[in-house]
Amino acid sequence: VTLTYAGGEPLPLNVIPATDGNSGLNISPLLSKTGFVTLDSGFVNTASCTSAVTYIDGDAGILRYRGYPIEQLAASSTFVEVSYLLIYGELPTPAQLADFEDRIRRHTLLHEDLKLFFNGFPRDAHPMPVLSSAVSALSTFYQDSLNPFDAEQVEISTVRLLAKLPTIAAYAYKKSIGQPFLYPDNSLTLVQNFLRMTFGLPAENYEPDPAMVKALDLLFILHADHEQNCSTSTVRLVGSSQANLFASVSAGINALFGPLHGGANQAVLEMLEKIARGDDTADTFMEKVKNKQDGVRLMGFGHRVYKNYDPRAAIIKKTADEILRGVGGTAGDELLEIALRLEEIALSDDYFIERKLYPNVDFYTGLIYKAMGFPTKMFTVLFALGRIPGWIAQWREMIEDKDTKIGRPRQVYIGATERDYVS
Ligand code: MLT
Repeated sequence: VTLTYAGGEPLPLNVIPATDGNSGLNISPLLSKTGFVTLDSGFVNTASCTSAVTYIDGDAGILRYRGYPIEQLAASSTFVEVSYLLIYGELPTPAQLADFEDRIRRHTLLHEDLKLFFNGFPRDAHPMPVLSSAVSALSTFYQDSLNPFDAEQVEISTVRLLAKLPTIAAYAYKKSIGQPFLYPDNSLTLVQNFLRMTFGLPAENYEPDPAMVKALDLLFILHADHEQNCSTSTVRLVGSSQANLFASVSAGINALFGPLHGGANQAVLEMLEKIARGDDTADTFMEKVKNKQDGVRLMGFGHRVYKNYDPRAAIIKKTADEILRGVGGTAGDELLEIALRLEEIALSDDYFIERKLYPNVDFYTGLIYKAMGFPTKMFTVLFALGRIPGWIAQWREMIEDKDTKIGRPRQVYIGATERDYVS
């Protein structure tokens, strides 16, 4: 099917100039139904952006950070190294890594007044909006480093954010359970420090289980970036107005809070727990999914980009059994068995194969977080802790690009045409 416009060549239907007003064609229903992108030079920075941070091939199930396969990074790097890679474009040398870790360590403390800020929230506050509020509040404490075009200020904001987010996340959790805050212990690594501030008590000598530290570090690497997903594109869109890094990332945290984005691993866990309670077996559950019975939905399968196995899920699955045994005894095993059976059915049944419903990153993560002792309300917070280097890298890339213009999603008007106002 082709359309022509005044004086022009025939155009394929998916390249429709936005001249409906002039041509008299009402193309908006077509656009809204098909999701076609219009070619309109008046609107930029909307339907796509260029980026050199993360590469995804959804058909082949490939994910690379700055060109390095996620599998290799997961096997050989730490989260802090991967953060450096995402933000600066290269893996650090040992000296660069030591310097980066040292700079992060120097900024883990929160200003005493910012600690008081947590008291303003109700005791049962979900830690995620507390996290986004506290990150937003960082721009009130560091007013001297908010200029997106001053490289030194961007650098100090980057390090502050990486250093303070684990402290803020741990305090948001402590607040929700009514326990006292712990100061960071800068002899520990970023992940050890976060676990201690989350699970430790002042009078106790808490020592995080090394298997748990390794597992959480791995999960953070796997969540560190995923190109233009909902929260990252939010960070870029807010940042395109030249909002500072803290404000932009705070917006991204709110985007991540949505159940379709960061909240999905919680939904998976609830689904597995429901099956474990005996409402269904894995097999009867999958039959219900196929028959669209009882409003049953299969959570943690399928992805907008991946039409193949999510490479992150493959890594998590490979290590899930070891992690669950290492950090949670047998606590997660029953749910893991159910998860494995659901996956087995999905990978062998034509219904799921035809729909390309493979497990995604959310499918096994909730199980692991649970075995580590995190309550479900912390799952999105953990996602945010992992995603922080990706948000920072994408924000910096966008700000450094001289061609960046303020984002403005294109609207296709579908409301009433002009109406006479009769008084
Ligand atoms: C993510 O990691 O951000 C999720 O898989 C969502 C996405 O990429 O769209």
